[in-house]
Amino acid sequence: MSLATFVLRYLPPSPARVLEIGCGPVGDLTYAIAAAGYEIVAVDPVAHAGPLFRPIPFEDFTEPGPFDAVVASLSMHHITDLTRTADHIVDLLVPGGRFIVEEWDRERLLDEATARWYFHQRHAAAATGLLAGDAPLTPRFEDWRRSWLADHGDLHGYAAMRAQLMAPFRERFFTWRPYLYRYDLHESLEPLERALIEEGAIQATGFRWVGELDPPS
Ligand SMILES: C[S@@+](CC[C@H](N)C(=O)[O-])C[C@H]1O[C@@H](n2cnc3c(N)ncnc32)[C@H](O)[C@@H]1O
Repeated sequence: MSLATFVLRYLPPSPARVLEIGCGPVGDLTYAIAAAGYEIVAVDPVAHAGPLFRPIPFEDFTEPGPFDAVVASLSMHHITDLTRTADHIVDLLVPGGRFIVEEWDRERLLDEATARWYFHQRHAAAATGLLAGDAPLTPRFEDWRRSWLADHGDLHGYAAMRAQLMAPFRERFFTWRPYLYRYDLHESLEPLERALIEEGAIQATGFRWVGELDPPS
């Protein structure tokens, strides 16, 4: 299921007010949510200009709530303070409001088989001209892993997000899923990554989660 389909499935019915955190420079998901009839505001320091977008970090977002839902795709692992972010989201949501998250767990990429599979897929992608992004591609696995760890030590993993970001919400949905195909690789690898996860050959590094604020009692 595509990211947009997942998000639209768990949003409350439109019309409703949605905040997206970390929409990226393109805003694909923002436009998909707007096209489905929602009023949406998307914040990201690299957001482009336009009425839907605010080119600021979420920490500087001061527009009044409430919002019926908050959506974040692959931005929460970058956020500096997860607990303050959770508090800010709780303050902005209506009672019963949803927090819809697409994320991945850096700790699972430390699994040997998963890391080796990803490393070799990047080399295969480079050989076929399908490598995305500008991350360095070293010839030796050990060198790549050392430099990846040095460059990505500050990212939050699943355990931290679960404990600090997701804790105030009642869980409505959770699943592990493929992610690495999206990590500077190619959409066409998703079925292979999924099959290897199902066979237990590599770890599922991606997850989707939906939390809900308790309505007033
Ligand atoms: C990996 S990209 C994901 C972009 C897009 N949501 C996607 O799914 O492809 C992470 C995004 O989070 C944004 N981001 C990082 N820290 C942020 C913050 N404090 N507030 C808002 N956005 C942030 C980055 O600028 C970047 O565009």
